[in-house]
Amino acid sequence: MALKRHPVANSPGYVSRCPASRIFFGGPGKLQSELQHAVQLGVEVLHVESLTELRRIQAIALEQNKTISVLLRINIALEGLTGTRLMMGGKPTPFGLDEQELPAALREIAASPQIQLRGFHFHLMSHQLDVDNHLTLIRMYLDKVQGWCKSWSLEIDLINVGGGIGINYLEPQHHFDWTSFCQRLPDLTQFSQSQGWTLRFECGRYIAAACGYYVMEVLDVKKNLGEWFAIGRGGTHHFRTPAAQSHNHPFSVLRREQNASWINDQRVTLVGQLCTPKDVLARQQVISALAPGDWLVFELAGAYAWNISHQNFLMHSPPEFIWLEH
Ligand SMILES: Cc1ncc(COP(=O)(O)O)c(C=O)c1O
Repeated sequence: MALKRHPVANSPGYVSRCPASRIFFGGPGKLQSELQHAVQLGVEVLHVESLTELRRIQAIALEQNKTISVLLRINIALEGLTGTRLMMGGKPTPFGLDEQELPAALREIAASPQIQLRGFHFHLMSHQLDVDNHLTLIRMYLDKVQGWCKSWSLEIDLINVGGGIGINYLEPQHHFDWTSFCQRLPDLTQFSQSQGWTLRFECGRYIAAACGYYVMEVLDVKKNLGEWFAIGRGGTHHFRTPAAQSHNHPFSVLRREQNASWINDQRVTLVGQLCTPKDVLARQQVISALAPGDWLVFELAGAYAWNISHQNFLMHSPPEFIWLEH
């Protein structure tokens, strides 16, 4: 395995290396310039978030004399289905078209030869830990699409069923049961195939979380009004996941120095360098031994970590990125 040091991850080079033919362009609040660029590049499919966006795409495609494939992202009501802690739909949210707007969107697409409707896009919830619920959710999407295809005689070939499979940060033994999910998925894929649809998933956290670790060097270990704190070099401006989730992030201690420990089986709160009491990565964790110079290693830090952090708070340096290559 090789170690490769790398500058901050959101450098522009990342985008230019993606082959245009495989780009699916989605997300709320797309800029006019981004839409123009996407149409010009001929991305494989554009996910449409609103009627306004659809009209902008139509105008751009006409202007550039290009044809563009789209998926309509739809927000639907979730009849009887249990939600999760993070809902992007199934209730009023800024994401996707309201199902009520679908007839208007379809009329506009029918009147616009530049726009080809490939299918539909859904992403209604994240943090899904329950296989039954996730399969029911996807089945609900497919039933909806089947109804729309019948009602409006649509010929589509692609359904993006979003991401949403969660990570159980606190009880890893109760992770989403991937094996069971895959065993039962063929019911849905076979149904989709029978309709001529390809199913596409866009999982985020479930794929990426385990790929990253966030490591803080311990700068100080101190007792304050009867409680122990370890101050690490870094904090939620690098790694906001625990603050965003309001949880104690799983971690382990890597003793680096031969120094004697400053504590002995104490409850310790792990904090960063920011001047806010909210800069906490884990509270009151029992730690057997710790001293300045040791490392705190937070696992499951590969998703919604650096990228969602308030990076310029106190203007500290960004973390160093180290890539492990096999
Ligand atoms: C449209 C869309 N698809 C997929 C994802 C990935 O979600 P997750 O990380 O829960 O799989 C997100 C995350 O916000 C999203 O907004």
